[in-house]
Amino acid sequence: MALLEIDGLKVSYDTPEGTVKAVDGVSLTLNQGETLAVVGESGSGKSQTAFATMGLLPKNARVEGSIRYQGQEVLGLSVKEMNRLRSNEIAMIFQDPMTSLNPYLRISEQMAETLMYNGSEGRRISKKQAIAASVEMLEAVKIADAKNRIHMYPHEFSGGMRQRVMIAMSLLCRPKLLIADEPTTALDVTVQARIMDLLVELQQEFNMAIMLITHNLGIVAGTCERTLVMYHGQVMEQGKTDDVFEKPKHPYTQNLLNAVPRLDRDDEVLSTIASEGLAGVGGAS
Ligand SMILES: Nc1ncnc2c1ncn2[C@@H]1O[C@H](COP(=O)(O)OP(=O)(O)O)[C@@H](O)[C@H]1O
Ligand SMILES: [Mg+2]
Repeated sequence: MALLEIDGLKVSYDTPEGTVKAVDGVSLTLNQGETLAVVGESGSGKSQTAFATMGLLPKNARVEGSIRYQGQEVLGLSVKEMNRLRSNEIAMIFQDPMTSLNPYLRISEQMAETLMYNGSEGRRISKKQAIAASVEMLEAVKIADAKNRIHMYPHEFSGGMRQRVMIAMSLLCRPKLLIADEPTTALDVTVQARIMDLLVELQQEFNMAIMLITHNLGIVAGTCERTLVMYHGQVMEQGKTDDVFEKPKHPYTQNLLNAVPRLDRDDEVLSTIASEGLAGVGGAS
């Protein structure tokens, strides 16, 4: 059985300008321990797909289709059931760790709290045990001197280190599925590479599946077994990353590949995909 199975997912919003189809019939599967890259330009529906899976869509979102986690339908779960899933099974990390970290609390407080109040049912642990487990997790994400630094505040860490803290926090409850939504976009190129290496290492250590959402194909190549390409809320193509990169079936994917920053070029800025190049692309209704 697949760990995650999304079938014909549609997310839409009624706005004064008409109906916005944020996700327009996405289907995908993710197996235990596997890494799937979800790529596509900004606004293509990547985050909305992730939020639907996490039960984090706003109330006015209209949702159709099916999202099954270990065979169980996720859409329509009660808040309590969804919380249980989020604290024990599925975790998500975001682009900007400061949106998830509380600036006024020491890392130790935030991590210990996660463990003491969100840990698996019946597992009541002391604060001391929670801090010890948190230090261990900070060490797993390679934060040096974790024993002392756990008592610091988020602003005392660099951007890359904060993202490591976020990753450590998301792993505390040993999720089987980690959804990483542009986890390195806000970081320097060299730090991005280190965070990606770390994620791959942790994935093997914890045997978790990762859905890596990114608009940067550069970081997908060495990291993800399979790649799914989104455009305008739809799946343009999906397959083994090597195949998608070597023989893109879809003109949209070709355009996306052409926009990948090359280290052998001077400009490292992602060139925006020229809209003329997309004329006639299916789904661009
Ligand atoms: N609350 C909302 N109301 C209306 N449209 C929304 C809302 N949230 C997201 N959208 C639209 O859904 C589309 C997909 O957004 P998103 O999933 O965030 O894209 P991505 O993560 O690929 O950049 C965008 O066009 C966005 O404007
Ligand atoms: Mg997004």
